[in-house]
Amino acid sequence: MADMTELKRQAGEKAVEFIQSGMVVGLGTGSTAVHAVRAVGRLLQAGQLQNIVAIPTSEVTAAEAHSLQIPLVTFDTHPVIDITIDGADEADPNLDVIKGLGGALLREKIVAAVSKRFVIVADYSKRVTQLGTQAPVPVEVIPFAERPVRDYLQSLGARVEKRLDGDKRPYRTDENNIILDSYFGPIADPHQLAAAIRQQPGVVEHGLFLNMATDVILATFDGIEHITRP
Ligand code: 5RP
Repeated sequence: MADMTELKRQAGEKAVEFIQSGMVVGLGTGSTAVHAVRAVGRLLQAGQLQNIVAIPTSEVTAAEAHSLQIPLVTFDTHPVIDITIDGADEADPNLDVIKGLGGALLREKIVAAVSKRFVIVADYSKRVTQLGTQAPVPVEVIPFAERPVRDYLQSLGARVEKRLDGDKRPYRTDENNIILDSYFGPIADPHQLAAAIRQQPGVVEHGLFLNMATDVILATFDGIEHITRP
C-alpha cells in the first residue's frame, strides 16, 4: 500500500504531465511540490522536456532547482508564468486553499497571481469541506508590527501563535518577516476574512489563496482525483 510520501510523489508527478516544452514554470515549496520539481529536473535531463525556464517560490526551492540544473529566471524577463505547481495545507471543494505552513506564502502568492494555470498538489489529508478546519491561516507580518497585528487578528476571533523555527527562535521568512499562525477554526466566509486581514497595516500577506487555483490534484489510496474550476 502507498504511504503518504508515495501519495505526495504521485500528486506532484501527475501535475508535471501538464508541463510542455518551452513553458515558463513556477516551482512550489514543500514536501509535495518538491516531487514536481524533481520530476521536472529528471525530464529535462532526459530531454523529454526542453527549453523550460522556472521561477522558484522560495530560497529552498531555488536551491533544489539549481541542484537539478533547472534554469531559473526572474519576472524581469518572464513576467507571466504558464503553469505553477505548488502544495497546500487545506483545499476546499471550491478550489480555495490555505497555504504557508512551509513559510513561503508570500512568494507563492506572487508567483500564483501571475500564473495562467495554478495547480495544487496534495495528499488526501489536505481535503476539507471548510477552510480553517485543520490548519491555521498563516499571516506574514513585518516584525515591527507584531503586537498590533496580533491584537487585530485576535479581535477577528483567532488564537494567534507566533511561528518558531527548529531552534525555538522566531521563524523568519525569505523576506525576513515573521509569521503569525492564526487559528480561526472553520471559516464561514473566507473572502470576508481575507479582506479583513488585509486591512491591518503591517500585514504583508496571508495564506488564504482564493479564486487562484485552476486545478487541485489530490492523491488518495484509491488513485488520483483531479478537480478543475468549472
Ligand atoms: C509552503 C506551502 C506548502 O505548499 C504547504 O505548506 C504544503 O506543504 P507540504 O506539501 O509539505 O504539506 O504553502 O509555504
